[in-house]
Amino acid sequence: MTNISNLKTLLEGINFNQIGVSFKGSGSYVPDQILTNQKISQKVNTSNEWIKSRTGISERRISSLGDDVTEMGYKAALTAIEMANWDIKTIDLIVLATSTPHDLFGSAPSIQAKLGAANAVAFDLTAACSGFLFALITTSQFLKGGSFKRAIVIGADQLSSFVDWNDRRSCILFGDGAGALAIEATNECDNLIGFDMRTDGERGSFLNLPSKNNKDSIIDNINFSSGAFSPIQMNGQEVYKFAVREVPIILEKLFKKMNYTSDEVDWLVLHQANQRILDSVGDRLKIPGEKILSNLEKYGNTSAATIPLVIDEAIRNNRIKQNDIIATSGFGAGLSWGAALIKWG
Ligand code: COA
Repeated sequence: MTNISNLKTLLEGINFNQIGVSFKGSGSYVPDQILTNQKISQKVNTSNEWIKSRTGISERRISSLGDDVTEMGYKAALTAIEMANWDIKTIDLIVLATSTPHDLFGSAPSIQAKLGAANAVAFDLTAACSGFLFALITTSQFLKGGSFKRAIVIGADQLSSFVDWNDRRSCILFGDGAGALAIEATNECDNLIGFDMRTDGERGSFLNLPSKNNKDSIIDNINFSSGAFSPIQMNGQEVYKFAVREVPIILEKLFKKMNYTSDEVDWLVLHQANQRILDSVGDRLKIPGEKILSNLEKYGNTSAATIPLVIDEAIRNNRIKQNDIIATSGFGAGLSWGAALIKWG
């Protein structure tokens, strides 16, 4: 009797409907305007050689008026939906990772409207350059929990609007763009193999896009702070040290937790901040250069967009293939960082 009741208790604890996620499509979009290192050198005291050797970046894309996060995110989402071959009305959830929404109240519902995804719920999520990874993980929890079946996760940013174009220490790094993945709940597999997420607000001052806190008066002695932002402020050396220290640690811990070795990884997909960071993390994890995806030479750091942008490029170039194992990590302001182990498909 005791054994039967033990078994009953055990069975009650198991969710037989446990579902996972699979990746069905990818998409991306970058604006047409190209800002080369040579052009930046006409604006601030720098050179193509300096930028190229310290960052790996040659050029970046800059949004013009109208090509904002809503527009870029919409175009990236649409190409991901086309690859997935989904009827737009079957999409349940749209999550937009961005720090630069066209509307501070959120840009995801505008993307929903542009797509005509009338049955989806859409919202923004902000975690700077970790935003896409955090959004991917958040979305997957909704899908695995059974609340939604089909989701689009978008990373889109327009940091050119918030860069100090007179600050040579930071303006050389950033560009604009968007990427998206189409993800579906399934009970056949779980292709988000594992993940981890971290933040450390104590070190948040290394990279900010802070409110200006301009004091203004409404009437008499009732004051308010007007809603405007200062340009990006960055301690480049500290951010660099943070990335090359924390990214290998979080990935190594994830490999260990999920019982994987770095040899089993087909692609290392890091947030595209600096080629030296990519190389250093690859060295630490003993992942060879040919397995490290990089397109920052063309686009620079597009913040929440870098990871889906480089994944989409590799899928369309036939580099990432069905069942490939991708180790990915996002990192940036917050400070925030995270990692995920994914099987494509
Ligand atoms: N062109 C020419 N010289 C420049 C320059 C530029 N664009 N930017 C800085 N310098 C100068 C500095 O003034 C300094 O000169 P000094 O020695 O006479 O004072 C010198 O180059 C070295 O500066 P330093 O800040 O030590 O350079 P660095 O090797 O650390 O490279 C970054 C600077 C920004 C490229 C690098 O720190 C970096 O990539 N950090 C990470 C930033 C990042 O990824 N942020 C986003 C995270 S999501």
